[in-house]
Amino acid sequence: MKALFICDEKEEWNYLRNIFRAHFSKVELVCAIKGADAIEALNFQGPFTMIMIECGIKSDNPSELAREIYESIGERPIIFIGTEVMLKDRVDNDLIETSDSAQIYKKPYEVNQFKEIIQVSLEWAQKEDFVNSVIELNRDEFVPLKLRNFYLFRTSPFDAYIELTKTKYIKALSKDKPYTQSQIQDIGKRGIRVLYLHKDEQLKFLENSIDKISTVLSKKGMQTKLILQTEIAGVLVIHQYLKSVGVTDKLTQFINVIMEASAKLYETTSTLTDILKNFPYEHLDLAEQAVLKALISEGLMRGMGWSSEMTRSKLTLASYLHDVYLPDEKMIRITHLEHPELESYSEREREEFINHMRKAADIAKQFSGISEADFIIEEHHELPDGSGFPRRYNASKLTAISSVFVLTSNFVTQLAIHGPSKLTMTSVLGAMNNHYNVGHFKEPLKILKKAVKDLG
Ligand SMILES: [Fe+2]
Repeated sequence: MKALFICDEKEEWNYLRNIFRAHFSKVELVCAIKGADAIEALNFQGPFTMIMIECGIKSDNPSELAREIYESIGERPIIFIGTEVMLKDRVDNDLIETSDSAQIYKKPYEVNQFKEIIQVSLEWAQKEDFVNSVIELNRDEFVPLKLRNFYLFRTSPFDAYIELTKTKYIKALSKDKPYTQSQIQDIGKRGIRVLYLHKDEQLKFLENSIDKISTVLSKKGMQTKLILQTEIAGVLVIHQYLKSVGVTDKLTQFINVIMEASAKLYETTSTLTDILKNFPYEHLDLAEQAVLKALISEGLMRGMGWSSEMTRSKLTLASYLHDVYLPDEKMIRITHLEHPELESYSEREREEFINHMRKAADIAKQFSGISEADFIIEEHHELPDGSGFPRRYNASKLTAISSVFVLTSNFVTQLAIHGPSKLTMTSVLGAMNNHYNVGHFKEPLKILKKAVKDLG
């Protein structure tokens, strides 16, 4: 923040500088000796939050100078400073009466009073900035991007907005201006989960994110938790990219980068118990669930002695893609068609829910080199007793690989609903034991129970 002081007495500059340094350390005070210098500073060193004019100034008429300032930069708080006589003679009454941003300060200076008047001007400017930054946007031209994306960067190449109403938005991040991680956290604390970008800018943002995540994951010696957090950010980008662009070579390569990072965890240090223990549980939203499901499936697969690279790729791709086309992310809690929450959705959304597996399966077919992830995706809502959907397959009809994924998927969904503590995991598995201790489900269930038991 900057304040401008126009005064031809340089001793007075120092007096105000000391006050600002002591009491308004975030405001930089710029001093000008005459009106022309002030206008130049306003035009070239701005923006200024407030302006102070010392009314004894010989080169200019304070009222005319104030009008020139308003014309040049719009309404800003102006404080006319002077002796009672100077204020009376040189400040036009109508300037004070018609503007709620103009004030007068009668000399001599008294620190506490002076601080108060500065405070009033700063608050006025901040309120005004807020009002001015609320803009009307055409919703059709803007797309939401999850707030989590913005943790990847230090500056946004585009303006990003918070939605206030369906038509009113406020700028949260300015193009090319550095922001801090705590700024993003503060936005998150207000319950805001998405920022809005212009449609044309979304693809560029996602491509930048892909490059950034790929670079991070290529580093050696990263901690498990950081690798997992980066993978979650990666899967989030995969989901958004798929929905807005579709399958491209860039996306296929990127999915391979994430898959490899995931595989390395088991190859180097981690067991299934380590994964359950170190996973950066936050909201267990779609992206978090996808990464966790991939890792649990792989842990179960390894536990059963399956070592095929292709099996691993199928399970991982299925984990990343299976729920990407849910019309509402909250639907990840819905595990069967009789679920009461389903009734709160429109007919179109219910239809999309019923078809989300089919649509994701079709997309999975487009990834060359990973065949048959599609049937795992299509069967992820089937259940051991045949009460699932869409085909009502039971334990004897489901393949071993599908059974691993159904078990994993339902286990993670329950953690998302009830929390990821050891106690919850144990009780969730206890309840699942009644239905899943059959057919191909038996062995992975046993391995999962053992991994949870070893959590300590
Ligand atoms: Fe699903």
